Amino acid sequence: MPGSPPTNDLKPYFCVLNDLDGSILWSRMFGNDHPVVLDIGCGRGMFLVKHAEDHPELNILGIEIDYREGRHGAARLQRRHLNNARVLGGDARIALEKYVPPRSVHEAYILFPDPWWKRRHRRRRLFTDVFVHHVREVLRPDGVLNAWTDVEEYFEVIAALMNHHPGFIALEPPEEKPAAHDLDYHTSFERKRRQAGETIYRGRWKKKNIEPS
Ligand SMILES: C[S@@+](CC[C@H](N)C(=O)[O-])C[C@H]1O[C@@H](n2cnc3c(N)ncnc32)[C@H](O)[C@@H]1O
Repeated sequence: MPGSPPTNDLKPYFCVLNDLDGSILWSRMFGNDHPVVLDIGCGRGMFLVKHAEDHPELNILGIEIDYREGRHGAARLQRRHLNNARVLGGDARIALEKYVPPRSVHEAYILFPDPWWKRRHRRRRLFTDVFVHHVREVLRPDGVLNAWTDVEEYFEVIAALMNHHPGFIALEPPEEKPAAHDLDYHTSFERKRRQAGETIYRGRWKKKNIEPS
């Protein structure tokens, strides 16, 4: 990750991990106790902005390792005065492990995680058993994890990790409706892939308690 970017111009919509002094206090970040949603790898923030506009009853935090992309998303929030969404610049794996309070998140979205096509780069992928463990830790009981990708092989890896995890149960994935217009997609990546005629694989899993053995 490059050195920290400026954050003052986009305050309070953008901050980086170094700005945080310990565990995030949601009520301080958003000024209320509404349910919290994470958009992990939010890119330029299309989903973040739409979800925040459609759901004023939710607080949404996008986490983005690429500061340029994260700042772009935060600027969109700033222009629209969307006070129920923020962007945190930094590695989501560190954010989940060290800064997001356990059992505090209602829903997490991981939409079109980088596939890292080359075999020797696969270990850079976000979805691993450690990542799933950390997402589960931050979800509330009955919290939901959503993962979408256009890469069938990566989806098989994700589904295998999730379906075999004793702490999750698979739910019905959301239905895909034909797009009514050019912006009728959830994310920029989804738009590109669906307009190219590609299949999108969508998974949805609910956290369940693990019975003590
Ligand atoms: C293929 S893009 C998808 C962006 C957006 N979700 C969409 O669907 O348009 C994947 C995004 O995940 C971000 N990313 C990759 N690894 C990450 C990590 N460890 N923490 C946070 N963001 C990450 C990338 O920088 C990139 O913006």
